Amino acid sequence: MAKILITGASGKLGSLVIRHLVDSQGLSPADIIAGSRNPQDLEALKTQGIETRKVDFSDEAGLSTAFSGVERLLIISTDAIGQRLAQHVSAVHAAKAAGVKRVFYTSMPKADASAIQFAPEHLGTEEAIKASGLAYTIFRNGWYMENLLMSLPKALASGQWFSASGEGGVSYIARNDIASAIAAGLARPVSDNVTYTLTGSRAFSKREIAALVTKTTGKPLTVVDISDEALIAGMEAAGFPAAVAPVFASIDKAIRQDDLAMVTDDAEQLTGKPRVSFEAFITASKDALLG
Ligand SMILES: NC(=O)c1ccc[n+]([C@@H]2O[C@H](COP(=O)([O-])OP(=O)(O)OC[C@H]3O[C@@H](n4cnc5c(N)ncnc54)[C@H](OP(=O)(O)O)[C@@H]3O)[C@@H](O)[C@H]2O)c1
Repeated sequence: MAKILITGASGKLGSLVIRHLVDSQGLSPADIIAGSRNPQDLEALKTQGIETRKVDFSDEAGLSTAFSGVERLLIISTDAIGQRLAQHVSAVHAAKAAGVKRVFYTSMPKADASAIQFAPEHLGTEEAIKASGLAYTIFRNGWYMENLLMSLPKALASGQWFSASGEGGVSYIARNDIASAIAAGLARPVSDNVTYTLTGSRAFSKREIAALVTKTTGKPLTVVDISDEALIAGMEAAGFPAAVAPVFASIDKAIRQDDLAMVTDDAEQLTGKPRVSFEAFITASKDALLG
């Protein structure tokens, strides 16, 4: 089996992908390399027989050593919004120079047309991968169901969920289902260049989500429609830096335009297993929602 390196291995998605490579795909730990800026945090993987390496996209010189002998490379997009296009491009160049056979990348839905302000970082990375001449698999990852646990508990506590997303929907998917699909894509033989969009099985609007949350928790939650400008002002008042608030507010604009509503079966096609339903996620999250 080819050596597969997963970057961002200490992150939430990276660690789940590695777990699925071993548990769901049956790969030998000897075929997996876990890369992280902090390989010392990967001791648990090392004890399973998984090699660990230092991988920091901001250190292009170090990447040639990191990627040596790797056939399949999963580049997990970083969380450094504003800097990550340069980071990802460095990783692609280093992959090419190191003789990597196929690059896999975690992008976002409609990277080429989304109103989300960081979409060009993902599009630029996709373009750099295509321009490199390397074989590629792109996973355009839908929005994690788990993202909702960052905003919903606070909204539920106040009973009001401020929104500029109108009636637009999001086809949320569990992070674990994305990881499972990526692991399946990494493990299977493939010769073509391919782009998957990994989504849930249907899109839910904020009003539909609020009704589901109210039914599940017994606490009323009302969606309060506001403008993009009011959303940005509210985020700044809540402590978001002035440079960051418009970026996050652009997600509501994108939802309003149904940029995140696309539904595909790609995840189930890859894994052969059903995804966690949105309703099941909300039910399982009852305690977390109530805070
Ligand atoms: N679809 C969605 O809803 C959604 C939501 C949030 C984020 N995302 C994107 O998906 C990615 C994975 O999500 P997650 O849930 O696993 O987030 P996370 O736990 O916050 O992981 C962030 C990842 O970025 C990596 N990273 C940061 N700086 C890096 C650098 N200089 N070089 C190499 N890697 C670097 C980290 O790796 P190490 O610390 O191990 O080096 C870590 O794996 C995020 O980074 C973000 O791009 C998607």
